[in-house]
Amino acid sequence: MGTKALCLFVASALVAYYIYTPIPENIEERWKLMLINAVFRTVGHLAEFAEQLGLMHYMEVLMLITAAEYVPPTSDENVTVTDTEFSNVPVRLYLPREQSSGLKRGMVYFHGGGWCIGGAGMKPYDLLSRQTSNQLNAVVVSVSYRLAPKYHFPVQFEDVYAVTKFFLQSSVLSQYGVDPNRIGVAGDSAGGNLAAAVAQQLLDDLEVKTKLKVQALLYPALQTLDLNSPSYRENENTPILSKPLMVRFLSEYFTTDSSLREAMASNRHVPAESSHLFQFVNWSKLLPEELKKGHVYTSPVYGSSNLGKKYPGFLDPRAAPLLVEDAKLRGLPLTYVLTCEHDLLRDDGVMYVSRLREAGVKVTHNHAKDAFHGAVAFISSPTDLALGHRLSNQYIKWLNDNL
Ligand SMILES: *[C@@H]1O[C@H](CO)[C@@H](O)[C@H](O)[C@H]1NC(C)=O
Ligand SMILES: *[C@@H]1O[C@H](CO)[C@@H](O)[C@H](O)[C@H]1NC(C)=O
Repeated sequence: MGTKALCLFVASALVAYYIYTPIPENIEERWKLMLINAVFRTVGHLAEFAEQLGLMHYMEVLMLITAAEYVPPTSDENVTVTDTEFSNVPVRLYLPREQSSGLKRGMVYFHGGGWCIGGAGMKPYDLLSRQTSNQLNAVVVSVSYRLAPKYHFPVQFEDVYAVTKFFLQSSVLSQYGVDPNRIGVAGDSAGGNLAAAVAQQLLDDLEVKTKLKVQALLYPALQTLDLNSPSYRENENTPILSKPLMVRFLSEYFTTDSSLREAMASNRHVPAESSHLFQFVNWSKLLPEELKKGHVYTSPVYGSSNLGKKYPGFLDPRAAPLLVEDAKLRGLPLTYVLTCEHDLLRDDGVMYVSRLREAGVKVTHNHAKDAFHGAVAFISSPTDLALGHRLSNQYIKWLNDNL
C-alpha cells in the first residue's frame, strides 16, 4: 500500500513537473495553456525522437497536429463552405448565404504554422474564416498553400500570390459578387508574413488592376536577419513558439540543410555583403523605449557568404517584408497589426508598425499585453481560450469597420 501510494505520488509529481511551464504573470487560464503547451511539447519531443531514429522528418510529426484538427468543409445556415482550387492551389471558400442586394466584401486568408504545418481545413482556421464571412457578409478565400520541408521558398509565397491574383481578376470578382474596392488580405504568424509580402508585391504588379483596401497581420513574422531582438531574448521559452522551434521553422522555409539552422540559432547567418539590410530591422531605432526594456543593441555578427549564396531566399523581401526600402512601403493599404507582449515575433510586428507609419501608411496597432503567440488559433473547443475569442473578435470588428 505504502509503495503504491509512493509510486502514485512520484508519478503525479513527474507529470506535474512535465506539464508545468513558467507562464508570464498576466496571462489568464494558465493551467489550460500549460496543458495545451504540454501537448505541443510532447509532439515536439516525439518529432525529435522520430527524426533521430531516421523514421520521419521533424515537420512530418508536427503535421499530425494539423491532421488531428482537420474538419471537412461543412456549410451552415449562414455560410456555404466548399473546397476548390484557384490557379491550381487548394483553397477553402466561404460564401455568405444572405441574399443582399449589394456587392460583398472579399478577404484572402493565409493560415499560420511556420511555412511547414497548418492548413485552411484546421478547425480554428475554419471557424475564423466562417465567422469573418458571416459577420462581414464577405467572400473568404482561405488558402492551403504548399509546405516545407517538401517545398521551400518561394513556393509558399508563389502559391498564395497566385491565389490572390486569381481572385482579384474582375471576372472572378463579379462571378462571386465581390466589390473590387473592398478586398483585403490577412494572415497569422507565417500567414501574416505571406500577407505582408503579397500586399507589397502587388504594388508593382502591372497585371493587377484591383487595389487592396486593407491588410491585417496577426503576430506576423517579418524578418529573418536579427533573431536576437528583445522579444526573441525575452521569449526563448515562452509557450507555443519557442526560439528553437522558430529557428527550425524559419530555416526550414529555405532549406532542410541544418547549416542554415545552426547559423540562425547563433544569429550569425547574414553575410557581411548584406550588412546594409540591417538598417531595416534595427530595433534600437525602430522600437519604442518601453519595449527596449534596457536591452543593449550590439552590432551584427556576420556569417559566411556561402549561406547567402546558397539560400538567397532568406534575404529576399518576399520572405522578409521588413527588408524593403521605405519607398516601397508608401503605397501599402490601411493596415492592422496585432502584436502580443509574450511573443518572440513581437518586435517584428512593432518595427513594421514604426516603418509603415514613418512612410505615411495608416496603421491600427493592437498590442495585447496579456497575450502570447498563436492566441487567435485557440478559439475552438477543447482548446479555446477567452483570450483567443477576444483577439479574434477584435480583428473581425476592425475588418468590419474598415473594409
Ligand atoms: C448564423 O448567424 C447568426 C447571426 O450572426 C449567429 O447567431 C449564428 O450563431 C450563426 N450560425 C452559425 C452556425 O454560426
Ligand atoms: C542602429 O541604430 C543605432 C541608433 O539607434 C545606430 O547607432 C547603429 O549604428 C545602427 N546599426 C545598424 C547596423 O544599422
